[in-house]
Amino acid sequence: MELTVEGISKNFKNENTVQTVLKDLSFTVREGQFATLLGPSGCGKTTLLTIIAGFQAASGGRVMINGAQVTRPGPDRGFVFQNYALFPWMTVRENILYPMKQRRVPAKEREKRFKELLAMAQLEGKEKLYPHQLSGGMKQRVAFIRALAGRPEVLLMDEPLGAVDMQMRQSLQEDLEALWLKDKTTVVMVTHDVDEAIYLSDRVIVMSAREGKIVDDMPVRLPRPRDRKGMEYQKHKEHLAEALKVAVGRQAETAVTEGKLCLA
Ligand SMILES: Nc1ncnc2c1ncn2[C@@H]1O[C@H](COP(=O)(O)OP(=O)(O)OP(=O)(O)O)[C@@H](O)[C@H]1O
Ligand SMILES: [Mg+2]
Repeated sequence: MELTVEGISKNFKNENTVQTVLKDLSFTVREGQFATLLGPSGCGKTTLLTIIAGFQAASGGRVMINGAQVTRPGPDRGFVFQNYALFPWMTVRENILYPMKQRRVPAKEREKRFKELLAMAQLEGKEKLYPHQLSGGMKQRVAFIRALAGRPEVLLMDEPLGAVDMQMRQSLQEDLEALWLKDKTTVVMVTHDVDEAIYLSDRVIVMSAREGKIVDDMPVRLPRPRDRKGMEYQKHKEHLAEALKVAVGRQAETAVTEGKLCLA
């Protein structure tokens, strides 16, 4: 499905001030495209993603899926939260089956998909545990495969692999890519990891700290699977690092070099 973000604005009123987090933001993610949002911490990435998901309303503008406006959450959009947000009263197995039941996937197919997803995330033997009995990385992996379980048309992921260690992260990126190539779901992912953005995306949208403006929109046309050590790959990384500097803004640049500001 094609996703269109059209003139989205978001203001938050805090006591007597109004904070403009997003101002007139527009872009279209074409069907089957893997788009990534990259930007400094607090620039509005999660806010934008939750507006697309329909969890909160925009102050202005609209979100369209295949030309139809969406205003509330629906099973057509899968969501991976920044802080996992698994159902704490459900086991791993129940968490993963939930979106499939919502979409009325037949029991036999549910089981097949469940086994496939569990193996992918290397979580075999954990199916009967509750989220509080899992490590942070395991919770994140459950959240990730749960979002894929119902085969959503648009997959929204807020730092889906943020709590996973480096080695597991790279192997999950490869699994994520393989699954995505199979289904060709339209994806919008948030990450603070430049390497992850380039490894996975067809396109990287860089948002600025001020009003979440788009400061860069870089296509990544490298053949898949990508060679992380390749020259072109490295060039893309350098380009994004520069774009992030612009995104943070001049004033903050010194803070970055002094290590006071984290690029998220
Ligand atoms: N419900 C809310 N009420 C008031 N302000 C909010 C609310 N939600 C977010 N904000 C503010 O909006 C700004 C953007 O927040 P958001 O969570 O979208 O940032 P982010 O880009 O996802 O950051 P990070 O990379 O750290 O996750 C922040 O200044 C935050 O304080
Ligand atoms: Mg966030």
